[in-house]
Amino acid sequence: MTYARLLGTGSYLPERVLSNEALSLTVETNDAWIRSRTGIAQRHLHGAGQTTSDLAYEAALRALQDARLEPDDIDLIVVATTSPDMVFPSTACLLQAKLGVKSGVPAFDIQAVCTGFLYALSVVDQFIRAGSARRALVVGAETFSDLVDWTDRNTCVLFGDGAGAVILGAAEEPGILASRLHADGRYAHLLSAPGKFVQGRFEGTPVVQMDGGAVFKFAVKVLDQVCREVLEACHMTAADVDCFVPHQANIRIIEATADKLGVPHDKVVRTVSQQGNTSAASVPLALDHARRQGLAHAGQNALLAAVGGGFTWGAALLRL
Ligand code: UT7
Repeated sequence: MTYARLLGTGSYLPERVLSNEALSLTVETNDAWIRSRTGIAQRHLHGAGQTTSDLAYEAALRALQDARLEPDDIDLIVVATTSPDMVFPSTACLLQAKLGVKSGVPAFDIQAVCTGFLYALSVVDQFIRAGSARRALVVGAETFSDLVDWTDRNTCVLFGDGAGAVILGAAEEPGILASRLHADGRYAHLLSAPGKFVQGRFEGTPVVQMDGGAVFKFAVKVLDQVCREVLEACHMTAADVDCFVPHQANIRIIEATADKLGVPHDKVVRTVSQQGNTSAASVPLALDHARRQGLAHAGQNALLAAVGGGFTWGAALLRL
């Protein structure tokens, strides 16, 4: 049997930092409200001209270095993003060219908003187990700040930019122990950026529209459910989780999910205070943070989970 194993991780946050204090000078909000309702203290924003594939490139270089591999070793590239550089080609193709990954290697994007990285991980796991790839680059990257109305205090305080990358390799020992993906398009209206180009003119709105309370309730319900699904698939319980790496949208969602599952808070990776919600980038950013800070070690079980627009949601259990 062939399985997918984690060979390396990397991440990148753009230099520019926007604190709650700075944000409260331009929109009717304040640090106390943002911290108490979301846990966010600051977020990173991309520089002028810096695109999603630029952030993905920096994260990918670090993941390659961590895995001690060269771009030439990669035989599949998948990028999860909702803020691609352009309508087409895909951000994955642009990243392939920037990295100098050899011609012919397949590259494509996956769009499942904040669950995008879990979708990408699960798809690549299946490529590797089927023998269709041996060394895959999987990236979650976003310039999500471009999808936000910076005059809408209900949404603009929540999001940030960044990228996280992992290298998955074919191995004889299982690394991705189980993964589960779900979607329910009946909830599309609760979290969306409902616009598109029609004959060269933009119709609708290109920025995030959200019923925050409804998203919050749904998130806490399905994150717990999908985490239990992957644990059951592995005949494990929350007690077997060494490191919980949830999507970083809101500290209250993260801690409520950990409490429902029964994972102690010292095993929960929390980066939301420094990064905000970076959508598809948040889980790989948090995983890289956990490995580099010594919160997650080789041989441990890491539980990854996310929920986002669609609605989409998913989880994966990794043996590091
Ligand atoms: O990745 C998945 C995507 N999204 C999420 O996961 C977000 C899920 N939802 C949430 O995180 C929370 O629902 C929010 C952080 C968005 C909002 O928190 P909440 O506790 O649900 O607050 P609320 O919507 O009930 O708003 C309470 C009050 C309102 O004022 P009134 O109507 O009670 O007078 C808002 O107008 O807070 C007001 N408010 C703000 N005040 C200061 C909303 N945004 C702000 C703000 N600063 N930025």
